[in-house]
Amino acid sequence: MPDPALITAVHAERVWDSRGWPTIEVQVQLDDGQSGQAIAPAGASRGTREAVDLRDGGPRLAGKDVQQALAAVRERIAPMLIGRAVGDQEGIDAAMIALDGTALKSRLGGNAMVATSLAVLHAAAASARQPLWQYLSQRQGTQPSLPLPEIQIFGGGAHAGRRVDIQDFMVMVPGAGSYAETLEVTAEIYHAAGSLMKQAGKLAGVADEGGWWPMFDDNREALDMLMRAIELAGERPGDRVVISLDIAASEFGSKGRYRLGLEDRALDTEGMIRMLGEWLQAYPIASIEDPLAEDDPEGMRAFTQAWGHHLQIIGDDFLVTQERLLEQAIAQGACNAVLIKCNQAGTVSETLRTWDRARRAGWGQIVSARSGETEDVSIVHLSVGLDAAQLKVGSFARSERMVKWNEGLRIARAMGSQARFAGGRALAGTWWGRQHAAVRSTPA
Ligand code: PGA
Ligand code: ZN
Repeated sequence: MPDPALITAVHAERVWDSRGWPTIEVQVQLDDGQSGQAIAPAGASRGTREAVDLRDGGPRLAGKDVQQALAAVRERIAPMLIGRAVGDQEGIDAAMIALDGTALKSRLGGNAMVATSLAVLHAAAASARQPLWQYLSQRQGTQPSLPLPEIQIFGGGAHAGRRVDIQDFMVMVPGAGSYAETLEVTAEIYHAAGSLMKQAGKLAGVADEGGWWPMFDDNREALDMLMRAIELAGERPGDRVVISLDIAASEFGSKGRYRLGLEDRALDTEGMIRMLGEWLQAYPIASIEDPLAEDDPEGMRAFTQAWGHHLQIIGDDFLVTQERLLEQAIAQGACNAVLIKCNQAGTVSETLRTWDRARRAGWGQIVSARSGETEDVSIVHLSVGLDAAQLKVGSFARSERMVKWNEGLRIARAMGSQARFAGGRALAGTWWGRQHAAVRSTPA
């Protein structure tokens, strides 16, 4: 075995995200000449218990500048990492967590920490002369697979000026034969939706994640339009293609009170569960995220009891990629899948612990981007290397999204005949899986 490579330098630069706000890029250099770099993404509909970004405040750049986070990397994190073995991800992350010392990573900044932690991971893979997906898969002992994409068609909630209450109206193509085929089918649906919206005079542009920015009169109109788009694309809804939703209910509800602004009505937890239940009976929805607010665990449990056998129920704001919250949710029977966002956890090691806990519980894992993204493609490699089975990146437009879908195609090509596609595996326990009993991994 060659000596493990040591970190010789850690650089931090200010770069810009897909909404035009500052973010932080970290580069880690090694004594074997290799290096790795990563950029922190940024959420808009953030959970209250996720790691917080360090932002400068003040009048410039809406207070979102990252000079303090850059200084945290340059002056505090870098001196601590120089001379350390790059393969010691756990030790490095633990040292950053100890140096930060806060519950939500507010001293060094979740943005500074996640960019550094991911850059360390990239550098370790480079030092092993392996692509990141392969390095991760060997390190974690998985059989890598191309994930099932979950792709947004209409954007709403905090990503589209709250023009509709529901944040993401998405499709998945679990019945496709390959990762590449899911993208082609989704492209047809995306463009069909765009022309239907234009014809109906309801198109206002694209939202933060590239989905169509709709002008609907109520939330069901979006679902009806999505059904029509799937049909116009030549697909039968519920057959190869299913609908998935991110309700992001914490954005319009708290403590059991939900306010649907578009329809000008208020619901309690029971009313929300009833309304969602009606949608589940009327539309081929196979996955739903954050159906109730992050502070409504009882509601989440009741919803899971009522519908957990029917579809995938994902905790995002509810679990914020925290192992402790996941542990509680497993014990309570709230949700049956977890969204995995590295910058909610704040470090790679914590992200991996949450992923591993979900895997052991038999819960689905959906590796996810944020609404503020960049050209960074780390999450695609995570989804493949961790065999996470699903990937959520936003829509099928805007280069910060397409760079990720395209990276999946490159990875499939690099895997060659070894390529496996997760297909509908994640939905095996849902109505869709029962209708399509032949859900199995197929070549990509
Ligand atoms: P965010 O939203 O990145 O704005 O928090 C994404 C999501 O809710 O899945
Ligand atoms: Zn979400």
